[in-house]
Amino acid sequence: MNQFIYSTNIVSDLADFFSSVSDNTSYFIVSDENTHKYCVPLISKCVPGNYKNLVMGTGEFNKNLNTCNTLWKLLINGGADRKSLIINVGGGLVTDVGGFVAATYMRGIRFVNIPTSLLGMVDASAGGKTGIDIDFFKNMVGIFAFPETVLVAPEFLDTLPDKEWRNGIAEMLKHGLIADDNQWKELSSAVMKGNLFELSDEFKRIVIKHILASVKVKTDIVNKDPYEKHERKFLNFGHTIGHALETYSLRHNNQPLSHGEAIAIGMVCESYLSARLTGLDKNNVDEVSKTILSLFNHHPINKNSFQEVYLLMKSDKKAEKESISMALLKSIGHPVLFDGVQHELILEAFHFYNSLQG
Ligand SMILES: NC(=O)c1ccc[n+]([C@@H]2O[C@H](COP(=O)([O-])OP(=O)(O)OC[C@H]3O[C@@H](n4cnc5c(N)ncnc54)[C@H](O)[C@@H]3O)[C@@H](O)[C@H]2O)c1
Repeated sequence: MNQFIYSTNIVSDLADFFSSVSDNTSYFIVSDENTHKYCVPLISKCVPGNYKNLVMGTGEFNKNLNTCNTLWKLLINGGADRKSLIINVGGGLVTDVGGFVAATYMRGIRFVNIPTSLLGMVDASAGGKTGIDIDFFKNMVGIFAFPETVLVAPEFLDTLPDKEWRNGIAEMLKHGLIADDNQWKELSSAVMKGNLFELSDEFKRIVIKHILASVKVKTDIVNKDPYEKHERKFLNFGHTIGHALETYSLRHNNQPLSHGEAIAIGMVCESYLSARLTGLDKNNVDEVSKTILSLFNHHPINKNSFQEVYLLMKSDKKAEKESISMALLKSIGHPVLFDGVQHELILEAFHFYNSLQG
């Protein structure tokens, strides 16, 4: 990412941004059905020249090659060339797919991300990972490509459903767990005092106050290791198990787990494994479990699915060789990479999560 803007006045910040873009640029705004309705109107009125709207369907089911094909064709039909600028307006779905489409169209054209979900703001929009799922295998095809600019404007969160706030909070909690003890303590205590059924305005204000700290955790790690050779793998805490659960759920459930729900369960299981393997204090495992159960309903993992979920973990792109590697915790704020997590221990972690009360 070349430029990061934290905006408290979108219209004026977008005007500044567009004044730096050359006059003969053509604009393509990529959004999904919701962000097209709620967020694009504010942005499109600031675009200085002609623009075209490319609107994709909502939900993880659309994070696939068909959607890319449609978007590439719309770019061709709309006359997009190498000087065009793609503006991705949406959550992680739009920035992952829109970024991938931009990075591959004519071997790569410029794009900017305007994340509109909390998860997009604190995580998905920055860091350069773009891509799509194949048969619900998460992010199996993709490319590292960095947006020219990321503009984070919390104002967009006004229309974000509570369920989506929770997904973003899960990634913020992860940032605290791997890098920032204070952020973890403040956010987890706010979550535990909160209400599982309705998020209060006061709670949302506390969350917004932590957005920048959360972005900093992500960008500091990405800047040190943009192509995930070492430190960046710490950001996968909760995701080795979480992605497998998400894929399983997308394949088998009518109402699949969201990304945030899946990685939240993953964080509980991987905290348990951290206590077994890398010295995390058991009290911290209790804290993580209580926090996650104050944020999300309990979704027991069906025993009949254990083996398939385990096999999905082995085929995850993060898996190396035959053994399963994971980012685990030595203590809060201190992650470590652990190679060779045993099958029996992973099943034990599933049982541990199942044993918690919703
Ligand atoms: N690239 C990365 O580094 C990275 C990191 C984390 C997650 N991800 C990916 O991000 C995706 C999840 O992102 P997400 O949780 O943002 O999901 P999402 O993009 O599907 O958005 C969630 C829902 O919120 C709606 N929405 C978004 N902004 C809104 C707004 N301001 N007002 C009203 N509705 C709004 C969307 O239309 C959608 O229905 C997953 O595919 C995940 O794999 C990528």
